[in-house]
Amino acid sequence: MAGYAFDFDDSTAYERAMGRWSRAVAPVFLRWLAPPANARWLDVGCGTGILAHTLLELCSPAAVVGIDSAAPQVAQASRGPAAGRASFEVGDACTLPFPDASFDVVASALVINFIPERRRALAEMRRVARAGGAVAAYVWDFAEELSPSGPLRRAMRRFGAQVPPIPGTAESRPEALRALFQEAGLERIETRIIEVCLAYEDFEDFWKAQTPGYAPTTKVIASMTESDRARLVRNVRDQLPAAPGGVIEYFARANAVKARALDQAFLIRPTTNSRTTAPTVDVTIEPISPPAVIPSTPNRKPPTRAPTIPTTMLPTTPNPFPFMMSPASQPARAPMARKMIRLVMSMMASRPISS
Ligand SMILES: C[S@@+](CC[C@H](N)C(=O)[O-])C[C@H]1O[C@@H](n2cnc3c(N)ncnc32)[C@H](O)[C@@H]1O
Repeated sequence: MAGYAFDFDDSTAYERAMGRWSRAVAPVFLRWLAPPANARWLDVGCGTGILAHTLLELCSPAAVVGIDSAAPQVAQASRGPAAGRASFEVGDACTLPFPDASFDVVASALVINFIPERRRALAEMRRVARAGGAVAAYVWDFAEELSPSGPLRRAMRRFGAQVPPIPGTAESRPEALRALFQEAGLERIETRIIEVCLAYEDFEDFWKAQTPGYAPTTKVIASMTESDRARLVRNVRDQLPAAPGGVIEYFARANAVKARALDQAFLIRPTTNSRTTAPTVDVTIEPISPPAVIPSTPNRKPPTRAPTIPTTMLPTTPNPFPFMMSPASQPARAPMARKMIRLVMSMMASRPISS
């Protein structure tokens, strides 16, 4: 269905439609994430700053940065309750303007499905997370039509109206989120369902909130005839019976995923250095399995090749390698690689390997 894209240029409408739901999920997600205090956080697709604000209240962070591609959302976040305690900027999740390994926790709330190149975004989230850091996200369960707009969308479908597809609907399932995180090379992946139940004062409150200008369903409803619109409203009312006092209450479901950004495996390959007079061994460290997607971001250098680390004064022997290790950080582990090589070399010197 062409012509019905989500844009998030109206932060006031976003707050009215989604603010209360987003605020209800964020603390449940953060408690499940159980992050350490004093962590450096990145909130990807921060919107009006709801996750950033909630984590400031609950997680005692050292620093919080929010990034979002919609300038009005960023402007709202910058003047909201997190102002002064978090910094917000406009930017694209697919080209994060941060150096490698610059955050302890990289989180994204209700965003990933909206990003067409979500694999690239995940690769970026992984890149900016430090080794051992957390990468986590949640999205509404659009596949089961259990987002806050679910009741309206279900009613529209029953009514026979066009129901614009939501981007990334299939990827909103827990299995799909797990697969996405796996593809990005993330490890120790866990998923969980978060359900939240909220109440609207009355049907008018619900209707006003759930028909924001940015939502494609609102555009479909606006294109209906007056009488069709009235019939649709009746249909929605039937599906959402009011409690005594007129209160409209229903639940929505988010699927959450969390993982660790462990380092990738490295191949350590000793190579004989014939240019020196003393027999020496150089060590080359190469990534074995590059991330599923290596983003070519204009704002950073391409991943650097591992340096050759000279290991002097080692006898040249037949190559007992390659072997694998998973260093927390390559330069920091280079001495360890040298130690391991020395150990193997000395074992070989004292005890020849039988073929
Ligand atoms: C449903 S809102 C979620 C906002 C907020 N995280 C929350 O929990 O309320 C989705 C947000 O993702 C942002 N977004 C979509 N694609 C993006 C991208 N490629 N990079 C950064 N932000 C993006 C939108 O501008 C929007 O603010």
